[in-house]
Amino acid sequence: MASPLKSLYLDRSSYLQAFKLFLECSTGYRCMKDFMDTRLPDVLASIVNGKSHLNVIGVGSGSGELDLKMLSVLHQNYPQMTVHNEVVEPDPQQLQDYRSLVSRTPGLGYITYKWNKMTAQEFEEQWKENKTIKKVDFIHMIQMLYCVEDAGATISFYQSLLDRNGKLLINQVTGDSGWGKLGKTYGKEFFNAEVSCVTSEDVKRLLASKGLSYRSYELPSETDITQCFIKGNERGEQLLDFVTQVQHFRKSASPELQAEIEEFLRSECSKETDDKVFFNYNSEVIVVDRLN
Ligand SMILES: C[S@@+](CC[C@H](N)C(=O)[O-])C[C@H]1O[C@@H](n2cnc3c(N)ncnc32)[C@H](O)[C@@H]1O
Repeated sequence: MASPLKSLYLDRSSYLQAFKLFLECSTGYRCMKDFMDTRLPDVLASIVNGKSHLNVIGVGSGSGELDLKMLSVLHQNYPQMTVHNEVVEPDPQQLQDYRSLVSRTPGLGYITYKWNKMTAQEFEEQWKENKTIKKVDFIHMIQMLYCVEDAGATISFYQSLLDRNGKLLINQVTGDSGWGKLGKTYGKEFFNAEVSCVTSEDVKRLLASKGLSYRSYELPSETDITQCFIKGNERGEQLLDFVTQVQHFRKSASPELQAEIEEFLRSECSKETDDKVFFNYNSEVIVVDRLN
């Protein structure tokens, strides 16, 4: 009998390995970096507005590659600007990887850091306990709202930290992405207390329900998941675990569920070209202003 499905998220080292593999097979980071080169400068211009120092918070920054890319775009456009960068990341390995990326990247002398090995919620509690009055210019949450208990409350708290002209940048997959569709159809089986499938549409709905305005940018991207369909292929099984967010999906899901999911992944979540299966990984960047 198949064992109950366990969240991949609970096995941190497998989760991180599978996440890295997913990114290797994906155009997601490339699209995000293109966004940073082409669209982020306008967002930054509206934040900077004559300032020579910015307070930045990265929430769920992972190993920091995208954070440093954003800061390098800032530096290219404003070479005199200094930055205080607070990183909020609960995973010790990710935080360590971020710190080691910083130490091997030249030219980051304009940045000072505060490393917070904690969740977004713990950071909020600490901020309130310390009665911190500092205001923040730029806060980003890239693909991390899946991991918080209450996305609406998280957005509200971080938005409340923004200074005049400050911006909160959120990036989540869209409702029509593979995960958007998997979440809608199989949310109960695959997404759980640890990880929920919050889409950019969910975020926009939350913002609209509070009467908040935002700008959004669509980022089409895809992940080659062809190997997921080759039984016994180690990389494919790891990738499938990440796509379904289930530990050892092949071993723990019933043969019927496996067949159903394979079919769903091919027909609803992906497109097939030249014998390859490309999982839809479209996402959206949403930029929110300070609450006035
Ligand atoms: C999908 S990864 C995205 C990482 C990075 N932003 C990127 O795009 O490469 C989600 C990140 O959020 C972190 N995370 C998980 N739960 C969190 C929480 N409650 N608060 C803050 N970050 C969290 C994870 O450890 C992980 O590094």
